[in-house]
Amino acid sequence: MAPKKQAGKRGATKGEFLSDIQELRRRARQHINDGAVTAGYGADREKVVAILNEALATEIVCVLRYKRHYFMATGIHANAVADEFQQHATEEQGHADRIAGRITQLGGEPNFNPDGLSSRSHSQYVEGESLVDMIKEDLVAERIAIESYGEIVRFLGDRDITSRRMMEEILAVEEEHADDLRDLLATLDPTQPG
Ligand SMILES: [Fe+2]
Ligand SMILES: [Fe+2]
Repeated sequence: MAPKKQAGKRGATKGEFLSDIQELRRRARQHINDGAVTAGYGADREKVVAILNEALATEIVCVLRYKRHYFMATGIHANAVADEFQQHATEEQGHADRIAGRITQLGGEPNFNPDGLSSRSHSQYVEGESLVDMIKEDLVAERIAIESYGEIVRFLGDRDITSRRMMEEILAVEEEHADDLRDLLATLDPTQPG
């Protein structure tokens, strides 16, 4: 269906997609205390902060789980697998830092409170008995993160492009993590489908 013509509306007939530059500058000055958040911010800021805090909790739980697995890895394959756990822990910490940074940019407060951490997190903290168990638990956690981050990306859409891009980049790393774990599992446990 063709859009109705809005005759007489200022700027509408020129096909401009940018707001009036004077108005843009005026708004930028008016709400200077809002920092990076301008009047053009299309999302519900509180909701985005709440969602990002859940992602932050997910990352912190992932750091803790990978650290536990790193120190508990034993057996003949332990070194190679432990190195992978350590690398993932470091990358999850980097994700946590990026998400916390974005939360403060949005004028929110990153929630690092250990109380309720695991219930805020999407993925779980499971210790795992054997090396294979640990890898399986990490793979499950990564798959949960992949699902929920995908949802977050779709929710943000073009309402908060910066947060969406950050979550897309983090999502891509979680997919790499899941891939690494699947490869490790196939090496260590040949009964698993590759
Ligand atoms: Fe992560
Ligand atoms: Fe990950």
